[in-house]
Amino acid sequence: MALRLKERLGKKFDEEIRFFKGMMQGPKTVGSIVPTSSITARKMASVINLHSGLPVLELGPGTGAITKAILGRGVKPENLVAVEYSTDFYEHLVRLYPGVNFINGDAFNLDKTLGAMRDQKFDSVVSAVPLLNFPMQARIALLESLLDRLPAGRPVVQISYGPVSPIIARPDRYHIQHFDFIVRNIPPAQLWIYRRG
Ligand SMILES: C[S@@+](CC[C@H](N)C(=O)[O-])C[C@H]1O[C@@H](n2cnc3c(N)ncnc32)[C@H](O)[C@@H]1O
Repeated sequence: MALRLKERLGKKFDEEIRFFKGMMQGPKTVGSIVPTSSITARKMASVINLHSGLPVLELGPGTGAITKAILGRGVKPENLVAVEYSTDFYEHLVRLYPGVNFINGDAFNLDKTLGAMRDQKFDSVVSAVPLLNFPMQARIALLESLLDRLPAGRPVVQISYGPVSPIIARPDRYHIQHFDFIVRNIPPAQLWIYRRG
């Protein structure tokens, strides 16, 4: 029992070290201070429709806390595509979650990043990309590019740490829903859902 606790603490410590290494590589791209809590990750994964027959797209998996929740929800590894910008995180993720389609690339340039999957439709998008670090025009363009890849009505769920939606309202283009505020996350997290139709 004591050994399992030691192993768990060791793993958690390893994740946090990896996170700080990611921060050192590019603090602007990492955004948060510690990995997403399991409560937040599970809430984000709850939007997935397991019966849609479509893969799920994850952005900014980092240390893999949300990836774990998506797989825990019942998504098969081969039905998950996850785009991570940091090569250090990417290499760790490939080892940690075999079978998941990890791509080491830029979520803001999805046509290039997705390559042969650029025309693929997804069930939903689960995103931890630190939007607040990017200009508003880039955030809007990313959201439109994501919604283009979803059936009408399906969600993009985004984690953010500010009091308002990280993407401005454009009711003619998409709807914004405040999904949750999770205190048990460091820092406390806001979840937002964006949809069309
Ligand atoms: C706040 S962290 C996500 C933390 C993650 N949920 C976890 O628990 O470890 C943001 C992640 O987005 C990634 N990221 C930042 N810019 C990106 C981009 N343009 N494309 C893809 N991933 C990006 C960062 O490398 C980092 O892994």
